[in-house]
Amino acid sequence: MNFTSSDNTFEAAQAFNEKDSLKEFRDEFLFPQFKGQDYLYFTGHSLGLQPKKAREAINEVLDSWSLRGVDAHFTGDHPWMTYHESLIESMSRVMGTKPEETVIMNALTTNLHLMLVSFYRPTKTRYKILIEQNAFPSDIYAVKSQARFHGFDWREAIVELTADQDPLEQIENLKDELALVMMGNVNYLSGQAFDMKAISEKAHEVGAFVGFDLAHGAGNLICDLHNADPDFAVWCTYKYMNSGPGSPGGVFINQKHLGKTDIPRFEGWMGNHKDTRFVMSPEFDPAPGAKAWQLNNHPIFQMAALRASLDLFDKATIKALRKKGDHLTGYLEFLLNENCGEKIEMITPAYSETKQTRGNMLCMRFKNDARAVRKALQDNGILSDFREPDILRIAPAPLYNNYTDVYKLVEIIAKES
Ligand SMILES: Cc1ncc(COP(=O)(O)O)c(C=O)c1O
Repeated sequence: MNFTSSDNTFEAAQAFNEKDSLKEFRDEFLFPQFKGQDYLYFTGHSLGLQPKKAREAINEVLDSWSLRGVDAHFTGDHPWMTYHESLIESMSRVMGTKPEETVIMNALTTNLHLMLVSFYRPTKTRYKILIEQNAFPSDIYAVKSQARFHGFDWREAIVELTADQDPLEQIENLKDELALVMMGNVNYLSGQAFDMKAISEKAHEVGAFVGFDLAHGAGNLICDLHNADPDFAVWCTYKYMNSGPGSPGGVFINQKHLGKTDIPRFEGWMGNHKDTRFVMSPEFDPAPGAKAWQLNNHPIFQMAALRASLDLFDKATIKALRKKGDHLTGYLEFLLNENCGEKIEMITPAYSETKQTRGNMLCMRFKNDARAVRKALQDNGILSDFREPDILRIAPAPLYNNYTDVYKLVEIIAKES
């Protein structure tokens, strides 16, 4: 990412906008308003913007409900019974999964628990879970409560990987005691991305299962899940996937675990094979693939917003989005270094040509109070995000952010921090 001092101008940022092959996508989104103007929005790592087509997709469901009532489960352009399935191909393209390894259901933490039922199978001697330090609290609560559920003291069962430790070395150290590696592939507080393939390979080498929370990776990094080869992964769709608050979660279950009859799993009627679901038999007849893990009727309104969002991913492609994301995030880092260097301590790792070390989010500390910087930005029509205790997170999302957004953001930070 080679920027030179001549790129430190508004005109240079405008020129980058002109050359941006994804620039048209900005127009597909609705921006929150500040004094009659669009906010500059840098919080897509928290809640992505609303695609303009989301309303149309949701209205289509409302219309179908009013026109067809219960028959809408089986009739209309997008029958509800298979609504979620019609999104799988697109989701698989974004996440690098095989369609049969993928389901869209529930929300992230619920799905994490469901996966832990299947893939945390502790024994007296192999019961430890390795998780990164400063993992998102919901993940920590999930693994602690699962350890307790299996009768272990979480203080012994949960091992935290500190920022200076190599995950592969830690896995090797824990070896025969390690039941599961469960990590965020991008840490929510530092923006650090982990090498899922290397971690999965090492975990499997010592006989442990491995799963990832891709809340900050989905729609952001090239996850290439099938080839990375973890046992499972879970993600949400309201961040970089722009599907709205409380939108449904995504789940990957590795092909090698599909179709097994002896895998522990919590089951419900939507996991039953479609052909026999309405036989209403008390015997569970599992649907093929990851679909066997489904429990409930699906939230169709939320799925509709996801449809509108995935259409945009199909058009833009995750590969092109990552390429722009690297350049745009690199430009943000360059401008911060040029204009506010000493005021900032960057926490997120540097860009690397050879591996994904980060996505679209930069996390930083300030000599001054980060909370005050966030407030100053907001007062100037720019949304960023503060996390306790002292971290500002800024996410330029390649679908709707551009280079002049980033330039204006840094101008305010340089003035107000
Ligand atoms: C990294 C991470 N994991 C888990 C969650 C919890 O997600 P949910 O509320 O969808 O279960 C979040 C929410 O922001 C998150 O950022």
